[in-house]
Amino acid sequence: MDKLVDRHGREVNYLRLSVTERCNLNCFYCRGDSSSCSAGEHDAVSLNHEDYLNIVRAFASSGVEKVRITGGEPLLVNGIERLVKDISGVKGIKEITMTTNACYLRSMAGKLAEAGVSRVNISLDSLQEANFKYITNGGLLNQVWEGIEAAVEAGLVPVKINVVLLKNINHREVMDFARLTIEKPMDVRFIEFMPFGEHSREWEKYFLSLNYVEEACSTLGEIEPVEGDHGAGPARYFRIRDGSGKIGLITPLSRHFCSVCNRLRVTAEGKIRPCLFSSQEVDLRPCLGQADPVKSIKKEIKRALEYKPDPGKVAQGVASRVKQMNKGSYNMNSIGG
Ligand code: 5AD
Repeated sequence: MDKLVDRHGREVNYLRLSVTERCNLNCFYCRGDSSSCSAGEHDAVSLNHEDYLNIVRAFASSGVEKVRITGGEPLLVNGIERLVKDISGVKGIKEITMTTNACYLRSMAGKLAEAGVSRVNISLDSLQEANFKYITNGGLLNQVWEGIEAAVEAGLVPVKINVVLLKNINHREVMDFARLTIEKPMDVRFIEFMPFGEHSREWEKYFLSLNYVEEACSTLGEIEPVEGDHGAGPARYFRIRDGSGKIGLITPLSRHFCSVCNRLRVTAEGKIRPCLFSSQEVDLRPCLGQADPVKSIKKEIKRALEYKPDPGKVAQGVASRVKQMNKGSYNMNSIGG
């Protein structure tokens, strides 16, 4: 089996595949222009089932073993469980996970588990009905809770909740999120707000370093660091003493993890993004209509690998560079959250 190793010695074994830009929610920090966040419309840019499958085949035969299906909101894609099932049949793929807002998870969790999803990460930025509605522009918190319960029932565990920390929007809820990990076997991961999307220009207004979370959690009980692999993701974990779940800190800005970056992203329109903090892309669409699309995608994967930047350089002044790079026009629903 081939291995994908970049110029800086990092092995890439993880693909984040966005299958749609659409989202049924419209989170104020994520949306770029609101038209991209509405359910029911057809996604002009999305690829079809076979295209996504060929992309996964090419990554798998290049050495990638893990795929995370993301978006937009992947559960808006018709036949998503069929795509999961077919991806799980691709030789070399050992793990499929999904990032979702859980609104439609109640009816989908069982089907996804059956199709081959092993775990889900759920984006949830508030535990208060009104605040959730405000952040998501109309989302219903109880739908998400029903989705979370269904995920647990279907064995998509441990459920991980992703919380983007936003000053004066949800930072007062940190303790409530932390308490969840004491009461339930659920991991809560706080993520530093990155300057993407509509609010990138006023990023400073909302950004709060995750030191805040550590301090707030330590008032709830003794903090025990949790060592280990945790799926080789970027989170550092700790536990509040006797808690059943863990608290994770994902700090792309205050303490970056570029040196252990193990991933490539593919956008819903079929472009590889070698680095979240660079606007460089490698377009796979010209490969898709070729006689041997997998072979030609594999070549482009090798090329994209070359573009993974020097981890030391990416980290310097990342916030200002990202702002400069996307000038407010890039957002996570198009890059793949
Ligand atoms: N900064 C940090 N996280 C973000 N996400 C979306 N936009 C941003 C941003 N600007 C998060 C989503 C989801 C995850 C995949 O990415 O909330 O939890």
